[in-house]
Amino acid sequence: MSKDVNIDWSNLGFSYIKTDLRYVSIWKDGKWDEGMLTEDNILHISEASTALHYGQQCFEGLKAYRTKEGKIQLFRPDQNAKRMNNTNKRILMPEIPEEKFIDACIKVVKANEAYVPPYESGATLYIRPFMIGVGDNIGVKPAEQYIFSVFCMPVGPYFKGGLSPVNFTTTAFDRAAPYGTGMAKVGGNYAASLKPHKTAAENGFADCIYLDPKTHTKIEEVGAANFFGITKDNKFVTPKSESILPSITKYSLLHIAENYLNMQVEERDVFIDNLDEFKEAGACGTAAVITPIGGIEHNGKLHVFYSETEVGPITRKLYDILYGIQFGDVEAPKDWIVEI
Ligand code: PLP
Ligand code: COI
Repeated sequence: MSKDVNIDWSNLGFSYIKTDLRYVSIWKDGKWDEGMLTEDNILHISEASTALHYGQQCFEGLKAYRTKEGKIQLFRPDQNAKRMNNTNKRILMPEIPEEKFIDACIKVVKANEAYVPPYESGATLYIRPFMIGVGDNIGVKPAEQYIFSVFCMPVGPYFKGGLSPVNFTTTAFDRAAPYGTGMAKVGGNYAASLKPHKTAAENGFADCIYLDPKTHTKIEEVGAANFFGITKDNKFVTPKSESILPSITKYSLLHIAENYLNMQVEERDVFIDNLDEFKEAGACGTAAVITPIGGIEHNGKLHVFYSETEVGPITRKLYDILYGIQFGDVEAPKDWIVEI
């Protein structure tokens, strides 16, 4: 019997909550140590750590879900491990073995089982793996030591609306350069996003839409989520670009649209001046799940898709299948679910 944590599950936002235990492993002398769980949520690192000065760090995000039967499961953690390793290669950090990554996530969820929200509470356990370059290192070069850590906390919806549509606005800022680190999950991309996000929020939008950094004519991302649109002839379309973070939710939706809903799917350019081709649009990601896009403001004009107040029927179907798979109510494709 796990302890009682006294949390109001249905009123959680997306905020930090200190849970009981986190996993920490150190890379030193060319190898990872065993790793361990600790109660300590404070890191003690050198002031000359590359993570602090040169942004040599990265993170991931995935969730644990409580099923109707009370079991706990992870959604595609192998994909997060692979993406973290792609990021690591880009910024010269050591790779983390996939089994070690998944095992660390499982250990952390088990150790904090009391914080996994109940089925149908509207909340989930968000898992945050990250890696940082540490040690004494003032030159601009890769660190010689690294910390890999995983912590978790229960969360509610990332965007306020849940499955109610929210509006977004385009921004003149970029989160990443054309051949920079847009496809890697490094903190620098998120530092670049703080100001445009703040401006968008001050103007009443949920977040901003990033356009392609080379020409500013094509949609790339929706804040910390990917974009998808449903065309008037029922195709599932999502942008393709080197500077987009490859969203695991997006690739899952491409599979769901094609194999569960028999839709045609396309990864291709999505021009901001051609939003009329879509009857529905949405933002997708681990934190965002599927958030319907009511409208997008661009050059002072708001383009409304299905409705500013109601979710469209295809977005709703995609959501129900994705949610059903994640919570164990719909049969998942092979290897998508890891039971804990
Ligand atoms: N794009 C950005 C910039 C993100 O931070 C995220 C969140 O991880 C996503 C897209 C969605 O990716 P995923 O579906 O793997 O969570
Ligand atoms: C996620 O969906 O896991 C993200 O990384 C979004 C986030 C930056 C809160």
